[in-house]
Amino acid sequence: MDELTRGAEEAGARVERVYLRKLTISPCLEIYGCMDTGRCVIRDDFQYLYEQIVSTHAVALASPIFFYTVSSHTKIMMDRCQAAFVNKYCRKERMSENMRPGIFLSVGATTGKLLFDGVLLSIRYFFDAIDVELKDTVLVRGVDEKGAIRRRPDTLQEAFDIGLRLRKTISA
Ligand SMILES: Cc1cc2nc3c(=O)[nH]c(=O)nc-3n(C[C@H](O)[C@H](O)[C@H](O)COP(=O)(O)O)c2cc1C
Repeated sequence: MDELTRGAEEAGARVERVYLRKLTISPCLEIYGCMDTGRCVIRDDFQYLYEQIVSTHAVALASPIFFYTVSSHTKIMMDRCQAAFVNKYCRKERMSENMRPGIFLSVGATTGKLLFDGVLLSIRYFFDAIDVELKDTVLVRGVDEKGAIRRRPDTLQEAFDIGLRLRKTISA
């Protein structure tokens, strides 16, 4: 993600980084306040994050693979975006007029062929709810200990190039 954002910034994008583990966000409680209001009614750090998701021109999301899906922090954030799903498919109010470009980055310790299959399905559906289309991925197998990604120069370059390209696909 550091390399991707470096690329995007070098191409002129303004990037806001959000570290989900630093936020206090309740899981979705399935109370469906969003059916009435169009917004999640649980008051916590998610409210500000949701505003950022609404107003951004592109999304890059990174999560390690935990049990063949995203991390818990990521999943909680995704579930809280159920308000966007409700808006789009029940209230017929989309978050964005146009689909916005999205990137997903992930690493897993193992090297199996199916490592990213489950997570990609979740990400595509999540992105759709927030009017984001998955345009590029950086998916790296065999990465376990902290910092190991730094020994993959080709992957870092790939992420940087995706960041550069991403800026060019944004119309604003
Ligand atoms: C709770 C947990 C579940 C994990 N599940 C998987 C898994 O299903 N498949 C896999 O290849 N690696 C799995 N891993 C290993 C992580 O994907 C790996 O350590 C990764 O490099 C962590 O990335 P990070 O340091 O950027 O958080 C798991 C690690 C943890 C802590």
